[in-house]
Amino acid sequence: MIKSPLNYTGGKYKLLPKLLPLFPKEFKNFYDIFAGGAVVAVNVASQDKPAAMNNSKYIINDIDENVIELYKYFKNNSLKEIFSTVNELIDIYNLSNTAEYGYNYYNADSNKGIGAYNRDGFNKLKNDFNNSSFNNDKYCAMFYVLIIYAFNNQIRFNKKGDFNLPVGKRDFNKNMQKKLIDFHNNINTNDFVFSNNDFRNFYNIANGDFVYADPPYRITTASYTENNTWGLEDDLDLFKFLDGLHMKNVKFAMSNVTQHKGAINKELLDWVNQGGYNLINLNYHYNNSNYQSRAKNNSTTEVLITNYS
Ligand SMILES: C[S@@+](CC[C@H](N)C(=O)[O-])C[C@H]1O[C@@H](n2cnc3c(N)ncnc32)[C@H](O)[C@@H]1O
Repeated sequence: MIKSPLNYTGGKYKLLPKLLPLFPKEFKNFYDIFAGGAVVAVNVASQDKPAAMNNSKYIINDIDENVIELYKYFKNNSLKEIFSTVNELIDIYNLSNTAEYGYNYYNADSNKGIGAYNRDGFNKLKNDFNNSSFNNDKYCAMFYVLIIYAFNNQIRFNKKGDFNLPVGKRDFNKNMQKKLIDFHNNINTNDFVFSNNDFRNFYNIANGDFVYADPPYRITTASYTENNTWGLEDDLDLFKFLDGLHMKNVKFAMSNVTQHKGAINKELLDWVNQGGYNLINLNYHYNNSNYQSRAKNNSTTEVLITNYS
């Protein structure tokens, strides 16, 4: 399975072995309308497929313009160009390069990480990024370097639209480089289309296409929902949107959480019942990073809802 170069909260990488066998074997175009780290679309596209799907397009959509522009930057530039720009930025901002020099060179060790050394340069880069104009290659490269050096390689913007994570423990190490190389090698075809729309704006999905929806889950919280909280109205609009696809004979699958820390998404369950859709329990503890949170989250029920069987 191909990893994402971005660490998305709620990313579906670990769930792919359960998810992919539940998707239809054949379809015309594949829409990942809440793509986030894009691992679902990229891995669906890399699977063996019937010859009839040779002209299929894979639409990677997210409302987050920064993320979509970054994917386009990856796609439109060679790895050589990207590495050279990233390394230039690492030099300009005096950031560490442990892949080349190791940890000792910076008086640091791998356990503690390299955050103390990088803090000043990272903050300067963050400041320059937040003050720079949007949407050119330089901006995208700065965004990517910020993610590499940020806390847990995550993405978070505040209400003003400023990137606001603190420095993290790691740098552009071999692991991050490999994720970029694998992802780049896979999106580098004309099969991928990147778009930056609200899901409500997809009107041209047609019979034969397959739509995967992985929206923010209303009863959990994740960093990308800090600014733009996903509420009941969004859930209801999405249910209407999926009903519309169903009426057009478009197959869909939606990931969601029906139960989390005692909260239940009742409207979701009602909609599934009314539509006669299939509810598949994936029994996956979605925040299983440590023992305590696993114990607390025992009641998290992650599901896949489909309109086909
Ligand atoms: C659960 S995450 C998707 C994770 C992704 N499947 C992965 O594996 O990385 C939900 C995504 O929906 C996006 N989003 C939120 N509201 C949206 C909207 N109205 N239309 C399209 N995308 C939206 C967020 O930016 C976020 O990236």
